[in-house]
Amino acid sequence: MASRVWLITGTTSGFGAEFVKNLLARGDKVIATARDTSKIKHFSSQGAATLELDLSADQSALNQTIEKAIEIYGQIDVVVNNAGYSHFGIFEDESYENTMKQYQTHVFGTMGVARACLPHFRSRKAGTFVFLGSIAAWGGMPALSSYCGSKAALRTSVETFQAETQSLGIRTLLVEPGFFRTELLNSNNARYAETNIDDYKPLTEGLFKQFKQYHQQQPGDPAKGVQRIIDVVKGEGEAAGKDFPTTLALGPDAVDAIRKKCNDTLKLLEEWESLSSSTNFD
Ligand SMILES: NC(=O)c1ccc[n+]([C@@H]2O[C@H](COP(=O)([O-])OP(=O)(O)OC[C@H]3O[C@@H](n4cnc5c(N)ncnc54)[C@H](OP(=O)(O)O)[C@@H]3O)[C@@H](O)[C@H]2O)c1
Repeated sequence: MASRVWLITGTTSGFGAEFVKNLLARGDKVIATARDTSKIKHFSSQGAATLELDLSADQSALNQTIEKAIEIYGQIDVVVNNAGYSHFGIFEDESYENTMKQYQTHVFGTMGVARACLPHFRSRKAGTFVFLGSIAAWGGMPALSSYCGSKAALRTSVETFQAETQSLGIRTLLVEPGFFRTELLNSNNARYAETNIDDYKPLTEGLFKQFKQYHQQQPGDPAKGVQRIIDVVKGEGEAAGKDFPTTLALGPDAVDAIRKKCNDTLKLLEEWESLSSSTNFD
């Protein structure tokens, strides 16, 4: 693939920052975005354009941001909907505000960026969306109901989005990483809501400690992960000659978790098939 214009959300650290570094090194044009652009000033001096983009903004503000972004190079070819954060809390006493904020970031804001880019992509009958989902979409985990739920909602939103736009020349890739060594579990980024319910305290105490200790111990290398994603988008490296996929598991832990979920689901389906299938009118 020739040089392209990429817009990336959440580039202050982790996958987002790796996208900027890798793409600049490959000679592509990059619009690096962040909610606080002072954190990505270094990317300007390395050749990227920078722009403020906060996923908590409403649709009209996101539309304006994307209009500004298109003006920078006259077009956008690839949008990487990357930004996100992890919120931990027990479902029973989780606040509405915390839950909404997680869904706003992972679903409404993320899909809002995609919605804002669609007229541009449709008019050119070209464009690629990359969404950073998670293996969390494949199964609930204790104290992560908002994170898992919002990534699952993103998964099906993206599937719908794909079904509506693939005949318009638009490509969409949902990437589902396992655990990667980014700043996601850094205590400054991850939110831990303590429970007020004694019954859950042993669970949260153990889990919160475990996740905090896992920061910078995750097996996945985000530089390698991003390299693979860009190869898939560009049809290069191991992805050369292969059809563009709709989803991509990233990391061996992601492959194992998704395979297990598929196998468990098939087993359950077969075990209950007779009862499940006995509900049509005679
Ligand atoms: N690392 C993993 O193990 C893993 C696994 C599965 C999925 N993911 C997904 O990968 C994506 C990137 O995360 P990461 O692992 O690279 O974590 P990270 O290093 O913490 O980076 C997250 C980025 O998202 C930005 N962000 C958070 N809320 C935002 C908002 N409202 N508006 C704009 N930007 C916002 C952060 O900016 P600030 O500096 O302003 O906070 C930061 O740049 C996320 O969607 C995450 O859910 C990660």
